[in-house]
Amino acid sequence: MCGIFGIITNQDIEIGKLALEGIKRLEYRGYDSCGIVSQHEGKLHVKKDAGKINAINKKLGLDDLPGKIALAHTRWATHGAPTKINSHPHFDCSEKIAVVHNGIIENFLELKERLISKGHVFKSDTDTEVIPHLIEEYEKRGLNFQEAVFEALRQCEGGYGAAICHADCPDKIIVVRKESPLVIGIEDGKTTYCASDIPAFLPHTRKHYVLGDDELAVLRPGEVDFYDIKTKTLIEKSPKTIDWSVDAAEKGGYDHFMLKEIFEQPQALKRTLSIPLESLRSFAESLITAKTIYITAAGTSFYASLAGKFIISKFLGIHIQEIECSEFQTQLSDCLEKNSVIIALSQSGETIDTIEAIRWAKESADATILSITNVVGSSITRYSDHTIITRAGPEIGVAATKTYTAQVLTLAMIGLEIARIKNLESSEDIKSYKKALNEVPNIIEKFLNHNIEHIKKIMKGLEKIKFKKIKKLGNKDLGKKLNNKHNFFFLARGISIATAKEGGLKMKEVACRFIEGYSAAHAKHGPISLVRGGFPIIFIAPPDDTYTRLIGNVAEFKARGGKIISLVVESDETISEMSDITIRIPQPADRFHNLFSPITFIPALQLLAYYAALDAHLDPDQPRNLAKTVTVH
Ligand code: M6R
Repeated sequence: MCGIFGIITNQDIEIGKLALEGIKRLEYRGYDSCGIVSQHEGKLHVKKDAGKINAINKKLGLDDLPGKIALAHTRWATHGAPTKINSHPHFDCSEKIAVVHNGIIENFLELKERLISKGHVFKSDTDTEVIPHLIEEYEKRGLNFQEAVFEALRQCEGGYGAAICHADCPDKIIVVRKESPLVIGIEDGKTTYCASDIPAFLPHTRKHYVLGDDELAVLRPGEVDFYDIKTKTLIEKSPKTIDWSVDAAEKGGYDHFMLKEIFEQPQALKRTLSIPLESLRSFAESLITAKTIYITAAGTSFYASLAGKFIISKFLGIHIQEIECSEFQTQLSDCLEKNSVIIALSQSGETIDTIEAIRWAKESADATILSITNVVGSSITRYSDHTIITRAGPEIGVAATKTYTAQVLTLAMIGLEIARIKNLESSEDIKSYKKALNEVPNIIEKFLNHNIEHIKKIMKGLEKIKFKKIKKLGNKDLGKKLNNKHNFFFLARGISIATAKEGGLKMKEVACRFIEGYSAAHAKHGPISLVRGGFPIIFIAPPDDTYTRLIGNVAEFKARGGKIISLVVESDETISEMSDITIRIPQPADRFHNLFSPITFIPALQLLAYYAALDAHLDPDQPRNLAKTVTVH
């Protein structure tokens, strides 16, 4: 939700250009409107408007701003429509104090009323605007810039990651954080950056600090000091170095980050496979000794948890209850057992509903929190007893792809570690599972290298299917009739239901198509009534224990005129013969590989969604109404 970027330097550099590049790298966080302010010779210079960054830059020349200090913002609207007036930065009455903010000031209405009664004039409908006016108010009472920020922030309830600059203070930017992420990058003695996420300054420096909750930092060129907002005392912090490469956060020749990140999966998963054994062991041991286990997450991470809990439960012999994070407290308010173990998954580590769920579980039942995230130092890590970082590298596309497969792989590795500790499986079997797991990146690589054209064609065909006439059309004729208004299903059984649901989510998200992922068995209790001549149904059909029954489900849908598209393994015969179109995943048909099919089968559906978005002339990297990280309830 919103990306903020700030820079202060003593170097002779084009400040506007750097600020523009910074927010462009954060555009995945929101793209309703954007703005940049710079400080120069006692004045603030601002350019902002509604729309996407490139369009606004073309119109206003965002990169052309003077000075050595700049703050930039890309917005995902919460309070106030996405208009020029509501776009950040926001100012005080005298327009000397500028603020860019990510988060929500929950008591802004009350603060606004108080400030208005003191004569402050507000221009926007945003919650953010109370911050500069509060600072102005405290300055009027004789406090300096930094002291005024301390006092202003103490009045604010809710969440914020904010950066503030002052026309009269050419030597500093002040940044503050509560709940919403904020990182600070340093080029020693030269330039200091602040941003909502590391990729924003990754081309300039890897050395960074993570600002903690209720902390304030004063940025000067190449230097930073940290303070506790509540006590106003200095805090010592050590910098960290991120090992992400700059290329990882660039498109690198691909048209979109989503496609790049789909293709990065083999490499990302190889890195995930190198998660240290000790981390897996501490998770495994906590789960083995647990009486009650829940798994919680949102969106794609939730579907990863559906697949992963299946694998872990198999080896653990204990049912793991999945609950969407936003429902966690509601559903368990009267029955969360003391000392439960909660597995929390979050790519960003910043999803507020996931964080609230684990915070509540910790406070109310002293739960043990095991979290899996892709972002070192993210909020979720602070509320967890153990954390595993998935090592997928930065994911910029709003649609999660490589982080999904990395999450499922991580859960599978924990499952195998449990199997090893518990000696439930023979050592030969464990070896075979491990071998199959290690082959996952290569299977995906092989699939991606050989199937792009096939998937593109399928997607084009699906866009152009005309009901009823479909039976008469061969695959190559599918393109002849246009009717792209209809929807279709992804159906599966067992562990593959997670794949169906995640495939459906990708389609909704990037292609704006209502494609539902559903249980193949359950679909005949209602959804089957949608099927008529030519209705496309994609069956996810690895040859696991559910395969025989899935054959029956395929037959039921085929008998009603459904167009059957199946995802099968290379050697498949039965379901592929019943299908109009098959997509073959190059993996062996044994139980060891089948268990990890949620990882090897999903890239096909990610690609379908990607090409469906392109066919619909949508930008898969910037889906409508979405932002990558949801830090509001
Ligand atoms: O960062 P998180 O994994 O906690 O995010 C959870 C969801 O917001 C996220 O998975 C969302 O559904 C993605 N846009 C899916 O592609």
